[in-house]
Amino acid sequence: MSTTGSAGAAATEANGAAATGGNGAGALRRPHVIVLGNEKGGSGKSTTAVHIAMALESAGLKVAVADCDHRQKSTARYLENRLAWAKRHDLPLTSPPVVVLEDGETDRLDELIAGGFDAVIIDTPGRDSEIGRAAIARADTLVTPINDSFIDFDLLGQVDPDSFKVTKPSFYSELVWKARQQRARADGGTVDWVVLRNRLSSLEARNRKRVGGALDELSKRIGFRVAPGLSERVIFRELFPRGLTLLDMAYVSDASVSHVAARAELRELIASLQLPLANRGAQEAVA
Ligand SMILES: Nc1ncnc2c1ncn2[C@@H]1O[C@H](COP(=O)(O)OP(=O)(O)O)[C@@H](O)[C@H]1O
Ligand SMILES: [Mg+2]
Repeated sequence: MSTTGSAGAAATEANGAAATGGNGAGALRRPHVIVLGNEKGGSGKSTTAVHIAMALESAGLKVAVADCDHRQKSTARYLENRLAWAKRHDLPLTSPPVVVLEDGETDRLDELIAGGFDAVIIDTPGRDSEIGRAAIARADTLVTPINDSFIDFDLLGQVDPDSFKVTKPSFYSELVWKARQQRARADGGTVDWVVLRNRLSSLEARNRKRVGGALDELSKRIGFRVAPGLSERVIFRELFPRGLTLLDMAYVSDASVSHVAARAELRELIASLQLPLANRGAQEAVA
């Protein structure tokens, strides 16, 4: 495992005071665990993970991040870039602690979850992995960003090529089904599964409608909610080297996207997750 920032130390320090399971009260409360998962690269998991983490941290929550994609480490690199850019330009930017985990390090994941945080955001690789499955089995909220395409939809369900009606669920739905059972056995918890329609563009109305119809149909069959994600914007590709998010548009002098519209979109995304963190200040997220 490699550690950026002080997540390891923070988790260890707080271990004595934190409970590992259940949703208890006060200081012993388990954090809300948000996992970004699907077995597909490029759908926006890491970008969304960083945005959720920064939105919750800016709302005053104590947030930690686990990046389980130890080959790419995009989420960890994103947040490292943030601290480096803040230092270079003497900006008051904060970043949550990040731990990079790989297969065989589930105990470290459990340590982080027991570390006294309000929310733990876990990014997973776009492929099957032991650590990714362990993360889903610990999720309170599983966020699956998909692009509006039947190639992405195919991870969740198969459709009839004539009618576009769903014929059967696919492997990722089955994996989540198993993880939900595991979670129920472990501590009786439930996994709220939210499929984010990410990188939407207004150009493809017919395809969008078809994918939307199939998602609605499948959501009822296998139990997920559908929510809007972050729309397609070139700015996302440019934010990474500086580690900035839509919340930091004030620091992006050449941004063509309006500060207000960008924040509104992120606020809607956070609201759609329906996180039970209101009493911890999350109602102010992205306010
Ligand atoms: N809403 C978006 N609009 C435009 N580009 C995006 C958006 N979300 C992600 N990207 C870009 O797409 C690529 C993949 O995103 P990433 O978050 O790394 O996906 P994943 O973690 O699922 O592989 C990156 O180059 C990223 O900057
Ligand atoms: Mg990624």
